[in-house]
Amino acid sequence: MRPRLALVIPTYNEAANLPRLLRRLHRALVEAGACIEVIVVDDGSPDGTAAVAERMAPTLRPAIELRLLQRGAKRGLSSAVIEGWAAADAQIPFLGVMDADLSHPPELVPVLLEALQQGATQVAIASRNVPGGGVLGWGMGRRATSWGATLLARPLTMVRDPMSGYFLFDRTLLRGRFLQPVGYKVLLELLVRARPARVVEVPFLFADRTAGASKLGARLYLTYLRHLCGLYGARMRLLGQAGRFVLVGALGVVVNLALLWGLVLLGVAPLPAAVGAFALAVSCNFALHRTWTFEPTGSGRRYLHGFLRQYGRYVGGSVLALGLNLLVLALLLQGGLALLPSQIAAIGSATGVNYALARGWGFLSG
Ligand code: GDD
Ligand code: MN
Repeated sequence: MRPRLALVIPTYNEAANLPRLLRRLHRALVEAGACIEVIVVDDGSPDGTAAVAERMAPTLRPAIELRLLQRGAKRGLSSAVIEGWAAADAQIPFLGVMDADLSHPPELVPVLLEALQQGATQVAIASRNVPGGGVLGWGMGRRATSWGATLLARPLTMVRDPMSGYFLFDRTLLRGRFLQPVGYKVLLELLVRARPARVVEVPFLFADRTAGASKLGARLYLTYLRHLCGLYGARMRLLGQAGRFVLVGALGVVVNLALLWGLVLLGVAPLPAAVGAFALAVSCNFALHRTWTFEPTGSGRRYLHGFLRQYGRYVGGSVLALGLNLLVLALLLQGGLALLPSQIAAIGSATGVNYALARGWGFLSG
């Protein structure tokens, strides 16, 4: 029987856990009549994890074809997992990952695999956040952190447990995709970059490790935030240039109104306040357009030179757009249209002209 799944088990100092994990996994697979490839990716664990894996390999066949990938030095969880998948036998249709420290019950592997084989889903996740799932032995602090981290990722995915380190998926999801090995959250990376249409979550109880130490330190929280920023950036890039332009414009309206309101509260007359609000909003928009909407260009003195010229052009374009806004508004009002639809049409035409000017004259020309 050919293996249908290549399961990566990343290890760093798991010599005390690996034998028990592999034996339980073996038993579950034999019971289910399944056979898989396991790729242990070890980063030169000083406790001899690699030797343990090698010694056990012959005892696990034929249910488990165990391969060992040794990377010499500790290079991080995500990169270990991604390298493991890259090393998997190309004929195998499903890939997966689980921890070596017995936090993830191996008995679930056949269940997750079955879900994939039925063809109704592209990703099968062992989840703590669906009914029947949960965590054992976590204090309030760790629960709160995990909850917060999941909440921050909520706009990126509807999956209840996108932080899970235990999941299987259809390898065609990776076709033409590049996963970036940042931090610990490989599943989140996969969900955002590959955008699977169908996902199932199978509940499980996450048990805290009893042997060895977690490799998760404070630095990893920062890494997670960096990872999130990258993923949000990638998601926004899908908007396209015009979409980003409109989004920044909408933000500019908020900035404009906030400053106008603040200045008027401070006693500034409405008209000079509006000029100040316009100036700040246009400058904010300029900064965002320059660094995000349009790709940044040039460097050093040329960069500064380009900066001032671009700024001048952008402000000029925005003043023209404002003029057009007022003109269209006045004409439509005179024609008898109500204020709200008139101003919406006016903003629409002004935004269009502003975009065309910013593109052709401000940011993308020399
Ligand atoms: N090869 C390699 N290299 N393996 C590593 C490395 C590394 O740099 N760092 C950790 N591992 C291995 C560990 O040996 C273990 O098998 C697995 O990756 C998870 O590491 P832990 O240190 O036990 O992580 P954790 O328990 O804090 O986090 C787990 O739970 C989180 C959910 O709370 C992981 O599954 C996370 O992915 C998950 O988000
Ligand atoms: Mn763990």
